[in-house]
Amino acid sequence: MSELSPYLASVAATIDHMIDRYFVDRTGDLNKASAHLLAAGGKRLRPAVVMLAADAVKPGSSDELLHAALALEVTHTFTLIHDDIMDDDSLRRGVQTVHTKWDEPTAILAGDVLYARAFEHLCMADAKDDAKVRAVTMLARACADICAGQHMDMSFEHRTDVDEPEYMEMVRKKTGVLYAAAAGIGAVLAGGNSVQVKALYNFGLNTGIAFQIQDDLIDLLAPPEMSGKDQASDLREGKQTLLMIKAREKGLDLKKYQKALTPADIKAAIQELTDAGVIDEVKGIASGLVADSNKNLSVLPASKERQLLMDIGEYFVTRSF
Ligand code: IPE
Ligand code: IPE
Ligand code: MG
Ligand code: MG
Ligand code: MG
Repeated sequence: MSELSPYLASVAATIDHMIDRYFVDRTGDLNKASAHLLAAGGKRLRPAVVMLAADAVKPGSSDELLHAALALEVTHTFTLIHDDIMDDDSLRRGVQTVHTKWDEPTAILAGDVLYARAFEHLCMADAKDDAKVRAVTMLARACADICAGQHMDMSFEHRTDVDEPEYMEMVRKKTGVLYAAAAGIGAVLAGGNSVQVKALYNFGLNTGIAFQIQDDLIDLLAPPEMSGKDQASDLREGKQTLLMIKAREKGLDLKKYQKALTPADIKAAIQELTDAGVIDEVKGIASGLVADSNKNLSVLPASKERQLLMDIGEYFVTRSF
């Protein structure tokens, strides 16, 4: 994995530069609110997946596709702004969330601005028009699925009988499909054939599901200084995460943590889940998904980028923020 860190750092620098150029320093309150989280950093993993998928299909092609990579980050950030309203969170990427720094109407509109401008940037990619139409279709479908996944996520807060297959469907939609679109769009715009596009789409989908499982672990385990987000927000909100489902299967009742949580409460919850073996079990499920999804990559020729895709999948489930 030694080459992954510098690779991700260089993608982040490129994307940061484009964000400065196209989103920061625009006048007006709504533009400022739209740029707030974009400019606050973030791991920039979806752009990295776009670029790696493109280069794995056609070496060097990602240089022409930087606007598409940016489009995925802008789409992702739109979903974060709206997600923070839904999850009632106040910290994101180490800064105040948009709806707490401004207000809810501004945050809804700031997200909408990014949603629209993402498609504008996707169309600015230097690729064939028919490939761009397919890419736009892929991103549009992903966005509709994300809404469906987020709707499931919210409706699950009112239930205590959500099972593992329902959780998997919810995270496939809210998180998996955007990684699927990232990999699929990179492949399509680079001129990949249908077998390659499908394989990369499926790779993104399954590693994306694993990414969300790890995100659920991070939500519980990482302090805000590390994650840049509210800790144990999922417990507080009664989210039906895989942790919650596995805990229930083992007879643990986490409902008592559905309140404003103190550091002592969070420590107690972590201890309960660790002792019952829930954390290890959930980690194992995430790793298994990544190992399985690597099989998709066998249709691609061996290359540095194909290896980096495997490394990024591994990173998705081992990262601590
Ligand atoms: C957080 O995504 C939202 C999820 C889909 C779980 P990231 O962990 O990629 O957040 P940033 O972009 O690095 O801030
Ligand atoms: C949100 O999942 C996924 C999105 C579609 C934004 P979470 O609600 O777990 O994401 P975080 O933990 O707030 O980043
Ligand atoms: Mg959230
Ligand atoms: Mg959420
Ligand atoms: Mg989360």
